[in-house]
Amino acid sequence: MPSKVSCLYLLTVVCWASALWYLSISRPTSTYVGHMSVSIRKTVKPQKNITFTNIRTRPLNPHAFEFVINEPKKCESITPFLVILISTTHKEFDARQAIRETWGDESTFGEIRILTIFLLGRNTDNVLNQMVEQESQIFHDIVVEDFIDSYHNLTLKTMMGMRWVATFCPKAQYVMKTDSDIFVNMDNLIYKLLKPNTKPRRRYFTGYVINGGPIRDMRSKWYMPRDLYPDSKYPPFCSGTGYVFSADVAELIYKTSLHTRLLHLEDVYVGLCLRKLGIHPYQNSGFNHWKMAYSLCRYRRVITVHQISPEEMHRIWNDMSSKKHLRC
Ligand SMILES: *[C@@H]1O[C@H](CO)[C@@H](O)[C@H](O)[C@H]1NC(C)=O
Ligand SMILES: *[C@@H]1O[C@H](CO)[C@@H](O)[C@H](O)[C@H]1NC(C)=O
Repeated sequence: MPSKVSCLYLLTVVCWASALWYLSISRPTSTYVGHMSVSIRKTVKPQKNITFTNIRTRPLNPHAFEFVINEPKKCESITPFLVILISTTHKEFDARQAIRETWGDESTFGEIRILTIFLLGRNTDNVLNQMVEQESQIFHDIVVEDFIDSYHNLTLKTMMGMRWVATFCPKAQYVMKTDSDIFVNMDNLIYKLLKPNTKPRRRYFTGYVINGGPIRDMRSKWYMPRDLYPDSKYPPFCSGTGYVFSADVAELIYKTSLHTRLLHLEDVYVGLCLRKLGIHPYQNSGFNHWKMAYSLCRYRRVITVHQISPEEMHRIWNDMSSKKHLRC
């Protein structure tokens, strides 16, 4: 009896969640979700006696956090061509400063408006929270929600970024999500990939596409327990070190996430949301999710490179800026 009751409860929740999903997302193109709700409705019907008291109207994953530091007016006077969301942790003061002074410098591209936003949660150490608050008052480029900042909560950080764009900067054209140890070749990103003079894309998503499956080795950084994700394959997803999408996708992902069970691997999780939305990520070999030794000519061809320290960031930037006239 108890198993029957909880099973019915679960079905009801899933069914209701998918119904809500239908309401919140206009015109789903994915057959995957449609198929799911059809088969569930069939099983629920004969079980009768579903009262409204046992239907949970709350989303599966409500993301009920408050902004504790926000920049709600950043997009009031400008419509950015590109918003760059940088996932960072409290102690990475140097990394944030290096990005501000190098590729993240918002004034580099003149008419093409770039917005750089650093994403953070709340630290358990209040001194660090206060230091970040002061930093925010100087630079006005930090957004914080009140979830605990930890590696396991990275997905919440990304969803906060999606929520921020959807709420405070919905007219932006493109969004990039990246990390604080990534070098971004902005010239290539803007002029070779996004091309400001072409028609803005919609439902567009690109990066280093990974077609993989869960790692069941508990020692791995990417360990995924079977009960959290039983399938042997992940949907195609873009490495979290750097992916780029048209800004309409931010709201779509955020709303989809409210009805999608949370996974701690943020890039896999975004891939799951994309599959539900029927959006296919494009492979782009310019996104390097491994470290790559510096050479002027190699770095001129990339969009991102991983594992760059703040010192390297300055050195690379200075070298590339001072040698713009050199041919490869
Ligand atoms: C249906 O649910 C109501 C309210 O929980 C309960 O009072 C009633 O006995 C149930 N009926 C059946 C047939 O299970
Ligand atoms: C993630 O954040 C939530 C909300 O603040 C918190 O309850 C939870 O403990 C955090 N998880 C980890 C692993 O830090």
